[in-house]
Amino acid sequence: MAFHFQVITVFPEMIQAAMAAGVFSQAQKSSLLELSCINPREFTTDVHRTVDDRPFGGGDGMIMLPEPLQKSIEKAKAQQPKAKVIYLSPQGKPLTHQKAQALSQESGLVLLCGRYGGIDQRIINQFVDEELSTGDYVISGGELAACVVMDAVSRFVPGVLGHKDSVDKDSFAEGLLEHPNYTRPREYQGESVPEVLFSGHHKKINEWKELVSYLVTLQKRPDLIDKSKTQKTLKEAYKYWQGLSPQERDTLGLKTLKDEDFHG
Ligand SMILES: C[S@@+](CC[C@H](N)C(=O)[O-])C[C@H]1O[C@@H](n2cnc3c(N)ncnc32)[C@H](O)[C@@H]1O
Repeated sequence: MAFHFQVITVFPEMIQAAMAAGVFSQAQKSSLLELSCINPREFTTDVHRTVDDRPFGGGDGMIMLPEPLQKSIEKAKAQQPKAKVIYLSPQGKPLTHQKAQALSQESGLVLLCGRYGGIDQRIINQFVDEELSTGDYVISGGELAACVVMDAVSRFVPGVLGHKDSVDKDSFAEGLLEHPNYTRPREYQGESVPEVLFSGHHKKINEWKELVSYLVTLQKRPDLIDKSKTQKTLKEAYKYWQGLSPQERDTLGLKTLKDEDFHG
């Protein structure tokens, strides 16, 4: 059965356009994923199809009315009674690799997109299972965030990615960032692809990938190292880094890694 995403949004065209290309769209064609939108305006009765009103107590921005949102959620739940209801919100827990993977185990998701100044709190209290954020900043609506969630979650749905390996080896899968990648030509603007990648020696190549992954993470996101499952140690990584020439460090994207980063 397809993994079903139902998006509650006043801008369904934004969702459909963003998801109409690439892996997600292919997976829809192969019936691995299903995407549908519910517009809260369907559940309005006035001529302007109003979905928002002024906040009680004053303040900037309009607030989305509870009733059209409740009816939208009920319509989604009638399709999929067990689907988790997620409100995209800057106040939610940040989306992570682990969270995306866990959500892919659900039977489906209902993604509620706010607009304007946000939504009536009582909808969150009564109907939302979880609030999710894409990061500590505010965007104008939940639609782009919902697309990010759908893209990240769908990558874990079996069959969506051609090679199962892609999710296992990507950044964050083992807790570290991915090693750099190179393709043709072997020499480009004075930089050569690391020799080991032509050795045909898979064990050596994997060793190299793990070490460089460690170094890239140490340079860009040292906070991830302690929480990762890496078998490599700081000592091994330091030894390898010391043996690299300045040119080799540049080619690996390790320009700003410094001796003191290993002794912090
Ligand atoms: C302009 S925002 C409202 C922000 C709200 N007044 C607040 O300060 O929490 C409108 C909508 O965009 C979405 N949104 C904004 N920032 C987001 C973020 N970082 N992650 C997920 N959704 C976000 C939410 O659905 C929100 O209801």
